[in-house]
Amino acid sequence: MTRPRNDTFLRALLREPTPYTPVWIMRQAGRYLPEYNQTRARAGSFMALCRSPDLATEVTLQPLARFALDAAIVFSDILTIPDAMGLGLQFVEGEGPRFERPLREEWEIRNLAPPDPAEHLGYVLDAVAQVRKALAGDIPLIGFSGSPFTLACYMIEGKSGSDFATVKKMLYRRPDLLHHILDINAQAVTSYLNAQIENGAQALMIFDTWGGILSHAAYEQFSLNYMTQIISGLTKVHEGVRVPTIVFTKGGGLWLERIATSGCDAVGLDWTIDIGSARQRVGSRVGLQGNLDPAVMLSSAEVIRSSAADVLASFGAGNGHVFNLGHGVSQFTPPEHVRVLVDAVHELSARYHVS
Ligand code: CP3
Repeated sequence: MTRPRNDTFLRALLREPTPYTPVWIMRQAGRYLPEYNQTRARAGSFMALCRSPDLATEVTLQPLARFALDAAIVFSDILTIPDAMGLGLQFVEGEGPRFERPLREEWEIRNLAPPDPAEHLGYVLDAVAQVRKALAGDIPLIGFSGSPFTLACYMIEGKSGSDFATVKKMLYRRPDLLHHILDINAQAVTSYLNAQIENGAQALMIFDTWGGILSHAAYEQFSLNYMTQIISGLTKVHEGVRVPTIVFTKGGGLWLERIATSGCDAVGLDWTIDIGSARQRVGSRVGLQGNLDPAVMLSSAEVIRSSAADVLASFGAGNGHVFNLGHGVSQFTPPEHVRVLVDAVHELSARYHVS
Protein backbone atom coordinates (compact mmCIF):
# COMPACT_ATOMS: atom_id res chain seq x y z
CA MET A 1 0.00 0.00 0.00
CA THR A 2 1.82 3.09 -1.21
CA ARG A 3 0.09 6.42 -1.28
CA PRO A 4 2.18 9.47 -2.18
CA ARG A 5 3.55 11.63 0.66
CA ASN A 6 1.16 14.40 -0.38
CA ASP A 7 -2.04 12.42 -0.97
CA THR A 8 -4.46 15.33 -0.48
CA PHE A 9 -5.63 15.08 -4.10
CA LEU A 10 -6.48 11.37 -3.85
CA ARG A 11 -8.13 11.87 -0.47
CA ALA A 12 -10.25 14.78 -1.69
CA LEU A 13 -11.48 12.75 -4.69
CA LEU A 14 -12.62 10.09 -2.22
CA ARG A 15 -14.11 12.72 0.15
CA GLU A 16 -11.65 11.88 2.92
CA PRO A 17 -10.35 14.61 5.27
CA THR A 18 -7.42 16.81 4.17
CA PRO A 19 -5.78 19.78 5.93
CA TYR A 20 -6.44 22.07 2.94
CA THR A 21 -8.05 21.93 -0.52
CA PRO A 22 -5.69 20.36 -3.08
CA VAL A 23 -5.22 22.10 -6.41
CA TRP A 24 -3.95 21.27 -9.88
CA ILE A 25 -4.62 23.02 -13.18
CA MET A 26 -5.87 21.58 -16.46
CA ARG A 27 -3.10 22.08 -19.05
CA GLN A 28 -0.67 22.96 -16.25
CA ALA A 29 2.15 21.92 -18.59
CA GLY A 30 1.58 24.07 -21.65
CA ARG A 31 2.28 27.13 -23.70
CA TYR A 32 1.94 29.71 -20.90
CA LEU A 33 5.29 28.37 -19.60
CA PRO A 34 8.36 29.59 -21.52
CA GLU A 35 10.25 26.42 -20.61
CA TYR A 36 7.46 24.36 -22.21
CA ASN A 37 7.80 26.31 -25.45
CA GLN A 38 11.54 25.70 -25.40
CA THR A 39 11.18 21.95 -24.95
CA ARG A 40 8.48 21.83 -27.62
CA ALA A 41 10.80 23.68 -30.04
CA ARG A 42 13.56 21.18 -29.26
CA ALA A 43 11.14 18.31 -29.95
CA GLY A 44 10.25 19.84 -33.33
CA SER A 45 6.48 19.42 -33.03
CA PHE A 46 3.73 18.82 -30.49
CA MET A 47 3.37 15.15 -31.46
CA ALA A 48 7.15 14.60 -31.35
CA LEU A 49 7.00 15.97 -27.81
CA CYS A 50 4.19 13.53 -26.93
CA ARG A 51 6.05 10.62 -28.55
CA SER A 52 9.26 11.14 -26.59
CA PRO A 53 8.88 9.74 -23.04
CA ASP A 54 11.98 11.74 -21.96
CA LEU A 55 10.62 15.07 -23.21
CA ALA A 56 7.06 14.30 -22.10
CA THR A 57 8.43 13.62 -18.62
CA GLU A 58 10.45 16.83 -18.72
CA VAL A 59 7.41 19.01 -19.51
CA THR A 60 5.17 17.15 -17.04
CA LEU A 61 7.58 18.16 -14.28
CA GLN A 62 8.01 21.80 -15.37
CA PRO A 63 4.96 23.28 -13.59
CA LEU A 64 5.76 21.18 -10.49
CA ALA A 65 9.18 22.80 -10.24
CA ARG A 66 7.54 26.22 -10.14
CA PHE A 67 4.32 25.77 -8.17
CA ALA A 68 3.15 23.79 -5.11
CA LEU A 69 0.68 21.72 -7.15
CA ASP A 70 -0.93 18.71 -5.46
CA ALA A 71 -1.04 16.45 -8.54
CA ALA A 72 0.85 15.81 -11.77
CA ILE A 73 -0.87 14.95 -15.05
CA VAL A 74 1.07 13.00 -17.62
CA PHE A 75 1.85 15.09 -20.68
CA SER A 76 0.06 13.68 -23.72
CA ASP A 77 -3.14 14.34 -25.65
CA ILE A 78 -6.57 12.76 -25.91
CA LEU A 79 -6.10 12.33 -29.67
CA THR A 80 -3.39 9.67 -29.30
CA ILE A 81 -6.13 7.00 -29.48
CA PRO A 82 -7.54 7.94 -32.91
CA ASP A 83 -3.96 8.41 -34.09
CA ALA A 84 -3.21 4.84 -32.94
CA MET A 85 -6.31 3.74 -34.90
CA GLY A 86 -4.57 4.98 -38.05
CA LEU A 87 -6.40 8.27 -38.68
CA GLY A 88 -3.12 10.20 -39.05
CA LEU A 89 -2.96 13.00 -36.47
CA GLN A 90 -1.22 16.27 -37.23
CA PHE A 91 -1.09 19.50 -35.31
CA VAL A 92 -1.12 22.43 -37.70
CA GLU A 93 0.50 25.56 -36.22
CA GLY A 94 -2.17 28.00 -35.06
CA GLU A 95 -4.99 25.68 -36.16
CA GLY A 96 -5.00 22.78 -33.73
CA PRO A 97 -5.44 19.09 -34.51
CA ARG A 98 -6.21 17.71 -37.94
CA PHE A 99 -6.73 14.11 -39.07
CA GLU A 100 -5.49 13.07 -42.51
CA ARG A 101 -8.08 10.31 -42.72
CA PRO A 102 -11.25 11.33 -40.84
CA LEU A 103 -14.08 8.78 -40.74
CA ARG A 104 -16.32 9.50 -43.70
CA GLU A 105 -17.33 6.25 -45.39
CA GLU A 106 -19.26 3.43 -43.80
CA TRP A 107 -16.52 0.91 -44.64
CA GLU A 108 -13.96 3.05 -42.83
CA ILE A 109 -16.16 3.00 -39.75
CA ARG A 110 -16.73 -0.76 -39.98
CA ASN A 111 -12.94 -1.31 -40.25
CA LEU A 112 -12.21 0.60 -37.06
CA ALA A 113 -10.61 -1.47 -34.29
CA PRO A 114 -9.46 -0.66 -30.75
CA PRO A 115 -5.66 -0.36 -30.72
CA ASP A 116 -3.53 -2.56 -28.46
CA PRO A 117 -2.13 0.00 -25.97
CA ALA A 118 1.22 -1.81 -25.53
CA GLU A 119 1.76 -2.02 -29.28
CA HIS A 120 0.45 1.35 -30.47
CA LEU A 121 0.50 3.61 -27.43
CA GLY A 122 3.66 2.37 -25.74
CA TYR A 123 5.12 5.88 -25.80
CA VAL A 124 2.34 7.13 -23.51
CA LEU A 125 2.72 4.15 -21.17
CA ASP A 126 6.48 4.72 -21.05
CA ALA A 127 5.90 8.40 -20.23
CA VAL A 128 3.49 7.41 -17.43
CA ALA A 129 6.06 5.00 -15.96
CA GLN A 130 8.88 7.51 -16.27
CA VAL A 131 6.94 10.39 -14.70
CA ARG A 132 5.77 8.16 -11.84
CA LYS A 133 9.38 7.24 -11.14
CA ALA A 134 10.53 10.87 -11.33
CA LEU A 135 7.82 11.94 -8.86
CA ALA A 136 9.45 9.61 -6.33
CA GLY A 137 6.29 9.29 -4.25
CA ASP A 138 5.85 13.04 -3.69
CA ILE A 139 2.47 13.70 -5.34
CA PRO A 140 0.02 11.51 -7.28
CA LEU A 141 0.06 11.09 -11.05
CA ILE A 142 -3.11 11.52 -13.12
CA GLY A 143 -3.62 9.49 -16.29
CA PHE A 144 -6.30 10.52 -18.77
CA SER A 145 -8.27 9.89 -21.91
CA GLY A 146 -10.94 11.58 -24.00
CA SER A 147 -14.52 10.32 -23.73
CA PRO A 148 -15.74 8.09 -26.57
CA PHE A 149 -18.02 10.88 -27.79
CA THR A 150 -15.38 13.63 -27.68
CA LEU A 151 -12.92 11.39 -29.54
CA ALA A 152 -15.63 10.61 -32.11
CA CYS A 153 -16.17 14.34 -32.66
CA TYR A 154 -12.58 14.75 -33.86
CA MET A 155 -12.52 11.41 -35.69
CA ILE A 156 -15.60 12.26 -37.74
CA GLU A 157 -15.10 15.99 -38.18
CA GLY A 158 -11.33 15.67 -38.73
CA LYS A 159 -10.56 18.93 -36.93
CA SER A 160 -11.78 21.26 -34.21
CA GLY A 161 -13.12 24.77 -34.46
CA SER A 162 -16.34 23.70 -36.16
CA ASP A 163 -19.76 23.17 -34.63
CA PHE A 164 -19.43 19.41 -35.19
CA ALA A 165 -22.33 19.49 -37.66
CA THR A 166 -21.13 16.30 -39.40
CA VAL A 167 -21.19 14.45 -36.09
CA LYS A 168 -24.68 15.62 -35.20
CA LYS A 169 -25.92 14.80 -38.68
CA MET A 170 -24.63 11.24 -38.22
CA LEU A 171 -26.24 11.10 -34.77
CA TYR A 172 -29.70 11.77 -36.21
CA ARG A 173 -29.37 10.05 -39.62
CA ARG A 174 -27.19 7.05 -38.83
CA PRO A 175 -27.21 6.53 -35.05
CA ASP A 176 -26.14 2.92 -35.66
CA LEU A 177 -22.86 4.09 -37.22
CA LEU A 178 -22.15 6.56 -34.43
CA HIS A 179 -22.91 3.86 -31.82
CA HIS A 180 -20.46 1.57 -33.59
CA ILE A 181 -17.68 4.19 -33.36
CA LEU A 182 -18.53 4.89 -29.71
CA ASP A 183 -18.46 1.22 -28.85
CA ILE A 184 -14.99 0.79 -30.38
CA ASN A 185 -13.82 3.97 -28.63
CA ALA A 186 -15.14 2.75 -25.28
CA GLN A 187 -13.21 -0.51 -25.67
CA ALA A 188 -10.10 1.43 -26.68
CA VAL A 189 -10.36 3.87 -23.76
CA THR A 190 -10.96 1.09 -21.21
CA SER A 191 -7.83 -0.85 -22.13
CA TYR A 192 -5.78 2.36 -22.55
CA LEU A 193 -6.72 3.64 -19.07
CA ASN A 194 -6.14 0.23 -17.48
CA ALA A 195 -2.70 0.15 -19.13
CA GLN A 196 -1.99 3.62 -17.68
CA ILE A 197 -2.92 2.32 -14.21
CA GLU A 198 -0.67 -0.70 -14.75
CA ASN A 199 2.19 1.68 -15.61
CA GLY A 200 1.74 3.98 -12.63
CA ALA A 201 -1.26 6.31 -13.02
CA GLN A 202 -2.83 6.80 -9.57
CA ALA A 203 -6.04 8.59 -10.63
CA LEU A 204 -7.82 8.94 -13.98
CA MET A 205 -9.70 11.71 -15.69
CA ILE A 206 -12.04 11.32 -18.67
CA PHE A 207 -12.29 14.53 -20.71
CA ASP A 208 -15.74 14.85 -22.29
CA THR A 209 -15.02 18.25 -23.76
CA TRP A 210 -17.83 18.13 -26.32
CA GLY A 211 -20.54 16.19 -24.43
CA GLY A 212 -22.18 19.58 -23.76
CA ILE A 213 -23.16 20.02 -27.43
CA LEU A 214 -25.63 17.12 -27.12
CA SER A 215 -29.34 17.36 -26.41
CA HIS A 216 -30.64 16.23 -23.04
CA ALA A 217 -31.71 12.82 -24.38
CA ALA A 218 -28.69 12.31 -26.63
CA TYR A 219 -26.18 13.07 -23.85
CA GLU A 220 -27.13 9.95 -21.93
CA GLN A 221 -27.26 7.68 -24.98
CA PHE A 222 -24.23 8.93 -26.86
CA SER A 223 -21.86 10.11 -24.16
CA LEU A 224 -22.70 9.22 -20.56
CA ASN A 225 -23.59 5.55 -21.14
CA TYR A 226 -20.22 4.92 -22.77
CA MET A 227 -18.34 6.62 -19.92
CA THR A 228 -20.33 4.50 -17.44
CA GLN A 229 -19.36 1.41 -19.40
CA ILE A 230 -15.67 2.43 -19.30
CA ILE A 231 -15.70 3.09 -15.56
CA SER A 232 -17.24 -0.30 -14.86
CA GLY A 233 -14.33 -1.88 -16.77
CA LEU A 234 -11.54 -0.03 -14.96
CA THR A 235 -9.18 -1.48 -12.38
CA LYS A 236 -10.53 -0.07 -9.09
CA VAL A 237 -7.64 -0.95 -6.79
CA HIS A 238 -4.02 -1.20 -7.89
CA GLU A 239 -1.28 -2.43 -5.55
CA GLY A 240 -3.68 -2.11 -2.64
CA VAL A 241 -4.57 1.53 -3.37
CA ARG A 242 -7.86 2.79 -4.78
CA VAL A 243 -7.57 4.50 -8.21
CA PRO A 244 -10.24 7.24 -8.33
CA THR A 245 -11.85 8.42 -11.58
CA ILE A 246 -12.98 11.93 -12.51
CA VAL A 247 -15.54 12.58 -15.26
CA PHE A 248 -15.52 16.06 -16.79
CA THR A 249 -18.28 16.97 -19.24
CA LYS A 250 -17.78 20.58 -20.30
CA GLY A 251 -21.24 22.17 -20.37
CA GLY A 252 -22.62 19.25 -18.36
CA GLY A 253 -23.85 21.23 -15.33
CA LEU A 254 -27.50 20.49 -16.11
CA TRP A 255 -26.81 16.74 -15.99
CA LEU A 256 -24.82 16.66 -12.78
CA GLU A 257 -27.01 14.15 -10.93
CA ARG A 258 -26.84 11.77 -13.87
CA ILE A 259 -23.07 12.14 -14.22
CA ALA A 260 -22.72 11.41 -10.51
CA THR A 261 -24.31 7.98 -11.06
CA SER A 262 -21.75 6.95 -13.71
CA GLY A 263 -19.58 5.18 -11.13
CA CYS A 264 -17.02 8.00 -11.07
CA ASP A 265 -15.54 9.18 -7.78
CA ALA A 266 -15.59 12.86 -8.69
CA VAL A 267 -17.21 15.15 -11.25
CA GLY A 268 -15.28 17.94 -12.96
CA LEU A 269 -17.21 21.22 -13.26
CA ASP A 270 -16.77 23.98 -15.80
CA TRP A 271 -17.08 27.60 -14.65
CA THR A 272 -20.76 28.08 -15.61
CA ILE A 273 -22.13 26.40 -12.50
CA ASP A 274 -22.01 27.46 -8.84
CA ILE A 275 -19.98 24.80 -7.04
CA GLY A 276 -22.02 25.21 -3.84
CA SER A 277 -25.28 24.37 -5.58
CA ALA A 278 -23.53 21.54 -7.44
CA ARG A 279 -22.50 20.15 -4.06
CA GLN A 280 -26.06 20.33 -2.78
CA ARG A 281 -27.30 18.48 -5.83
CA VAL A 282 -24.84 15.57 -5.67
CA GLY A 283 -24.69 15.39 -1.86
CA SER A 284 -22.07 12.97 -0.64
CA ARG A 285 -22.21 10.72 -3.72
CA VAL A 286 -19.09 12.15 -5.42
CA GLY A 287 -16.29 14.64 -4.98
CA LEU A 288 -16.21 17.80 -7.11
CA GLN A 289 -13.34 19.29 -9.10
CA GLY A 290 -13.24 22.87 -10.31
CA ASN A 291 -14.25 25.44 -11.20
CA LEU A 292 -12.66 28.89 -11.48
CA ASP A 293 -13.25 30.65 -14.81
CA PRO A 294 -9.90 30.35 -16.68
CA ALA A 295 -10.34 33.97 -17.81
CA VAL A 296 -9.85 35.09 -14.19
CA MET A 297 -6.21 34.01 -14.64
CA LEU A 298 -5.75 36.87 -17.12
CA SER A 299 -6.74 39.52 -14.53
CA SER A 300 -4.68 40.52 -11.50
CA ALA A 301 -3.31 38.89 -8.34
CA GLU A 302 -6.04 40.56 -6.27
CA VAL A 303 -8.88 39.37 -8.48
CA ILE A 304 -7.41 35.86 -8.67
CA ARG A 305 -7.22 35.66 -4.86
CA SER A 306 -10.73 36.96 -4.30
CA SER A 307 -12.21 34.76 -7.05
CA ALA A 308 -10.48 31.69 -5.59
CA ALA A 309 -11.84 32.68 -2.17
CA ASP A 310 -15.35 32.85 -3.67
CA VAL A 311 -15.10 29.32 -5.13
CA LEU A 312 -13.79 27.94 -1.82
CA ALA A 313 -16.53 29.73 0.15
CA SER A 314 -19.19 28.48 -2.23
CA PHE A 315 -18.08 24.86 -1.75
CA GLY A 316 -17.93 25.58 1.97
CA ALA A 317 -16.65 23.53 4.87
CA GLY A 318 -15.79 19.87 4.57
CA ASN A 319 -14.14 17.39 2.28
CA GLY A 320 -14.47 16.38 -1.33
CA HIS A 321 -13.25 19.44 -3.25
CA VAL A 322 -10.29 19.45 -5.65
CA PHE A 323 -9.63 22.99 -6.81
CA ASN A 324 -9.06 23.49 -10.54
CA LEU A 325 -10.03 25.82 -13.34
CA GLY A 326 -13.27 25.16 -15.22
CA HIS A 327 -11.23 24.37 -18.35
CA GLY A 328 -7.60 24.46 -19.48
CA VAL A 329 -5.35 27.37 -18.54
CA SER A 330 -5.01 29.88 -21.37
CA GLN A 331 -1.66 30.18 -23.14
CA PHE A 332 -1.79 33.92 -22.37
CA THR A 333 -1.79 33.42 -18.59
CA PRO A 334 1.25 34.98 -16.88
CA PRO A 335 2.98 32.09 -15.04
CA GLU A 336 3.13 34.21 -11.85
CA HIS A 337 -0.66 34.20 -11.76
CA VAL A 338 -0.63 30.41 -11.41
CA ARG A 339 1.58 30.77 -8.35
CA VAL A 340 -0.85 33.33 -6.91
CA LEU A 341 -3.74 30.92 -7.43
CA VAL A 342 -2.06 27.81 -6.04
CA ASP A 343 -0.79 29.64 -2.95
CA ALA A 344 -4.15 31.35 -2.41
CA VAL A 345 -6.03 28.04 -2.54
CA HIS A 346 -3.69 26.47 0.01
CA GLU A 347 -3.79 29.45 2.33
CA LEU A 348 -7.48 30.32 2.11
CA SER A 349 -8.83 26.77 2.21
CA ALA A 350 -7.37 25.70 5.57
CA ARG A 351 -10.28 27.30 7.43
CA TYR A 352 -12.75 24.98 5.68
CA HIS A 353 -10.98 21.84 6.92
CA VAL A 354 -10.68 20.47 10.41
CA SER A 355 -7.64 18.29 10.88
O1 CP3 B 1 -3.40 19.03 -18.75
C1 CP3 B 1 -2.20 18.79 -19.03
O2 CP3 B 1 -1.24 19.50 -18.70
C2 CP3 B 1 -1.91 17.49 -19.77
C3 CP3 B 1 -1.80 17.58 -21.17
C4 CP3 B 1 -3.04 17.67 -22.05
C5 CP3 B 1 -2.97 18.22 -23.36
N1 CP3 B 1 -4.15 18.03 -23.97
C6 CP3 B 1 -1.77 18.86 -23.93
C7 CP3 B 1 -1.94 19.76 -25.08
C8 CP3 B 1 -4.35 17.20 -21.88
C9 CP3 B 1 -5.00 16.58 -20.65
C10 CP3 B 1 -5.03 17.43 -23.11
C11 CP3 B 1 -6.44 17.04 -23.34
C12 CP3 B 1 -7.10 17.45 -24.58
N2 CP3 B 1 -6.59 17.53 -25.83
C13 CP3 B 1 -8.49 17.77 -24.66
C14 CP3 B 1 -9.47 17.70 -23.53
C15 CP3 B 1 -9.34 18.85 -22.61
C16 CP3 B 1 -9.80 20.15 -23.21
O3 CP3 B 1 -8.93 21.03 -23.37
O4 CP3 B 1 -10.98 20.27 -23.48
C17 CP3 B 1 -8.77 18.09 -26.00
C18 CP3 B 1 -10.10 18.51 -26.56
C19 CP3 B 1 -7.56 17.92 -26.75
C20 CP3 B 1 -7.38 18.07 -28.21
C21 CP3 B 1 -6.45 19.18 -28.51
N3 CP3 B 1 -5.10 19.14 -28.23
C22 CP3 B 1 -6.75 20.40 -29.13
C23 CP3 B 1 -8.12 20.83 -29.59
C24 CP3 B 1 -5.56 21.10 -29.22
C25 CP3 B 1 -5.34 22.42 -29.91
C26 CP3 B 1 -5.95 23.54 -29.16
C27 CP3 B 1 -4.97 24.09 -28.20
O5 CP3 B 1 -5.29 24.23 -27.01
O6 CP3 B 1 -3.87 24.43 -28.65
C28 CP3 B 1 -4.54 20.32 -28.61
C29 CP3 B 1 -3.12 20.67 -28.45
C30 CP3 B 1 -2.52 20.57 -27.09
N4 CP3 B 1 -2.67 19.54 -26.22
C31 CP3 B 1 -1.61 21.51 -26.51
C32 CP3 B 1 -1.25 21.01 -25.25
C33 CP3 B 1 -0.28 21.60 -24.26
C34 CP3 B 1 -1.09 22.77 -27.19
C35 CP3 B 1 -0.23 22.32 -28.32
C36 CP3 B 1 1.06 23.08 -28.51
O7 CP3 B 1 1.97 22.98 -27.68
O8 CP3 B 1 1.13 23.72 -29.56
